[in-house]
This record gives sequence, structure tokens and C-alpha cells, in this order.
Amino acid sequence: MTIEPASPGVDDRSAMGAPRKRLFIKTWGCQMNVYDSGRMADVLAPLGYAPVQAPDHADMVILNTCHIREKAAEKLFSELGRLRESKAARRAAGGEMVLAVAGCVAQAEGAEITARAPWVDLVLGPQTYHKLPEMVARAARAAGAVIETDFPVDQKFDHLPEAAAPPGVTAFLTVQEGCDKFCSFCVVPYTRGAEYSRPVAAVLAEARRLVAAGARELTLLGQNVNAYHGEGPGGADWGLGRLLRALAEIPRLARLRYTTSHPRDMGDDLIAAHRDLPTLMPYLHLPVQSGSDRVLAAMNRGHTADDFLRVVDRLREARPDLVLSSDFIVGHPGETEADHEATLALIRRVGFASAFSFKYSARPGTPAAGAPHQVRETEKDRRLHDLQALLRAQQKAFNASRAGMTFAVLITGQGRHPGQIAGRSPWLQPVHLIGPRALIGAEVAVTIETAFPNSLAGVLAASAGGVPVQPPEETAPA
Ligand code: SAH
Ligand code: SF4
Ligand code: F3S
Repeated sequence: MTIEPASPGVDDRSAMGAPRKRLFIKTWGCQMNVYDSGRMADVLAPLGYAPVQAPDHADMVILNTCHIREKAAEKLFSELGRLRESKAARRAAGGEMVLAVAGCVAQAEGAEITARAPWVDLVLGPQTYHKLPEMVARAARAAGAVIETDFPVDQKFDHLPEAAAPPGVTAFLTVQEGCDKFCSFCVVPYTRGAEYSRPVAAVLAEARRLVAAGARELTLLGQNVNAYHGEGPGGADWGLGRLLRALAEIPRLARLRYTTSHPRDMGDDLIAAHRDLPTLMPYLHLPVQSGSDRVLAAMNRGHTADDFLRVVDRLREARPDLVLSSDFIVGHPGETEADHEATLALIRRVGFASAFSFKYSARPGTPAAGAPHQVRETEKDRRLHDLQALLRAQQKAFNASRAGMTFAVLITGQGRHPGQIAGRSPWLQPVHLIGPRALIGAEVAVTIETAFPNSLAGVLAASAGGVPVQPPEETAPA
């Protein structure tokens, strides 16, 4: 799953009858955490909690954390330091602030969090969010912190309420959670537990609800989303391809995406879905991590560089306009200069429209953390620098290749400048143009006039050559 700074995306809304309490949720990590933050807000809404945009004066603060790299976990403790003061100030003013730590650091470190930060009231792992109201009540009674880090994943989805806040034009929908792959470097199998797929009926019902409430693009989420095997009608086992075909039938659903996939689970039916479904967008995030077979084996990825390239070829055969993004790790234990060169060669061969790349970060409890031949930090820095220069050049070239093209843009909201609206290309690029707000939620044909390193600017195709477009925040055109 893609790791980006995230905000929970929950709107201010009034509570259902109960007195209004202020809820602030801060979200780190992957899109699944963003989705989960929305569900936590939903579960707390009947208790009178309504989301606010800042922690000051909040009655409850939830930090939804990520454990994927060391820095991600450290951010939690610096935030907790700041919140200790906010909590004391609130108490001095006669109020209370319930402070909760959720997400993958909560799952991995549980009691250590309250030992290091005893002012935390609740620690809850990703599979326990449906119990939040009960935990809030227990915390009010308890002398010490309340900790819940059980793993009954099916219960979570059975007990979470239907989404209360209206979705945006684009919405996430978790269909699968957890991972059985145990890559050498990764904490996810420990923090999110074993693979679990939600039943087809539950996914379809949630998708229909989201579309009825205004969503036009759905991104199916899972740590290993293409390993999805949910129970379908009559007990049949449905893979992701079949699920996508059923979702594509929903009227007014314009676009489908899914993330994150594993190259090993890119089956025939899923590849065929890319050929058959126009609503399945021609953009796929497919992490490869390394281009060296030696490193891929050490990582326990279960595929070679060649296997990955064959999957890419088959995908491009099925959907010629498909572009790829990926994740890379530099400096996995044992990675040599030749291995690094093999990764650069793979990147040159595939050509990625965008990518995330990271320095290997040793995670306690994972096999790679104790492996011999750890790579020096300065060496990791240099390799990351090389790799990112190449990836940036590819992204720039891809964006530049869209200039002059006309294609459908899904308008998701207002732009930064007056009169501007913003949306997404089929390839997930942000697009800015001048247009009426009434177009929010619509797919419109846009002619691209300028490509920037991270976004595009264009005009409504009907007015191509007419209205000039103010550039977005970036300065240097590609
Ligand atoms: N199943 C998802 C995993 C999410 S982790 C996936 O395969 O994409 C997202 C990315 O974080 C991984 O793809 C990997 O590139 C990176 N990552 C995971 N553990 C890491 C570690 N210990 N050090 C550096 N990067 C890591
Ligand atoms: Fe982590 Fe590997 Fe599972 Fe992705 S497939 S979540 S990298 S263990
Ligand atoms: Fe981070 Fe957990 Fe997602 S470790 S990347 S929040 S699954």
C-alpha cells in the first residue's frame, strides 16, 4: 500500500442528538489507515463526537499510527509529547481530553506506549475499532490505560457501522486486510495479522452505498488486495477479477482502482479484467522492491525480476494504455552495488509513471533486522539518490507525454485559484483547469496544455485553445 502523509478526510458534521464533543484524528501511513480513521469517526458519531481539524480543545484525540519504518513510529512519540501539554492545559481549564493511540504502532508496541507515555488513555490495534465506544466508557472508569490489541478481524467488519459521513467524489473501500507473505523486511503481517477477505455481498453493499452517496471512483484497498478471495453467492470463492466485474455493473460508478497488489497474485482473471473493464483505470501500483534476483530471494518475495517483467508484459498486452507505479527498497541487508544496478536496469526496462522508494529500515522482530551484511547508511543514501533521480526523470517524461492529449478527467473539487477546479487523470495525475464548480463529480474531456513534474494543467476540451489556465503551485514546467 502506498505510504503518504495522510489526513483522515472526515468532514465536520453534527452529532445525532447527543451533545457535541470534539474529535480530532491524525492519520499516518497507508490508505487503509485513512479508511480506518473514517470508520473510527463513524463509530464515535452516535456518542456525540464530531470531527474537528485541530487537537486544541478536542475532547478526544486519536493518533492512527504507522509502524512501517523507524521514522514513522518516532513521529508518534514526538506528537505524544506535544499532546501531553495540550491535555494538561485542557484539564487546567476544567475539561478532559481522551488520548488514544490506534493503528500499527499500537498493535506492535501495545503496553510499551503507555509505559513511555503514561498520559495515553487508550491503545487499540487495527482489529478492535468497533469496540471504541466501549473502550471510551472503560477509560472513563479506569485508573490506568485501556489496551485492546486482539486479532478477530472478521468481527471488526461485522460490527463497524455503515459509513455515516458522506464520501467524496473518490472513496476508499477496504476489501481485504492482512498479509501472509512475510517479506523479510516488513512488519505488516505482524501488525495487521493474517489475510482476511470480506464477503462479496458486504463489499457490493458498501460500494452501492458509497456510489448512492456521491462517490464516482472507488479504490479497493487491501495490504494484498489481489490476493482477495471472498465468499460469493452460494459459498463460491471469488477472486479480485470477478469482484471487479461485479462492481463495474454498479450504475454511475465511473472508475475503479485497487491497491496494493503483489506480483505473485496477478492472476489470469485479474489481468483479463484490465482488458475487459473500461471502468478499471489504466494505472496499477505493483511493488517490486528490487530488480535483483538475489535480493528478491533474500526478501522472500517469491518472484524473480523476470517474473515481474512477464506480468508487466501481459498487463500491457491486456491494456495497452496501462501505466505502472511501484515501491522500491534500497540497501536491504546483503544488497551489493551489482544488485543496485540490477534494480536501476529493471526501472529503465519498465518505465514507471511514479514510484515510492525507501531506504531499508530495520524493524525489530522481522528476519532482515538480524541478518548479516547490513548496508552502511551513507551507501543507502547514495543508492536512494541514484534511484530517485531515475524515477523522477521517468515521472517527468510520463507527465510530459500527456501534453496535447485530450482525455477524461474526473473532477473531484475546487482548485487553489479562483475559478479553478481540480480532478484526476485516468493515470492518477492531479489535473487543474478553469471550469464551473457544477462539474464536481463529473468526468469531463480535458485537453492538457502544460505538464508539471507532479501535475497537469488543461482546458475543457470544448474550450480548447480558449481560456488560459493558471498554473498550480508548482513553478517549473516539465
Ligand atoms: N503489501 C504492501 C505493503 C505495504 S508496505 C505492498 O507490498 O506494497 C509499503 C512499502 O513500504 C513496501 O512496498 C516497501 O517498499 C516499504 N517498506 C516496507 N517495509 C520497509 C522497511 N522495513 N524499510 C523500508 N521500506 C519498507
Ligand atoms: Fe509487507 Fe510483503 Fe506483505 Fe507487502 S507483501 S505487506 S511488503 S509482507
Ligand atoms: Fe503503516 Fe500499518 Fe499501513 S504499518 S503502511 S499503517 S498497514
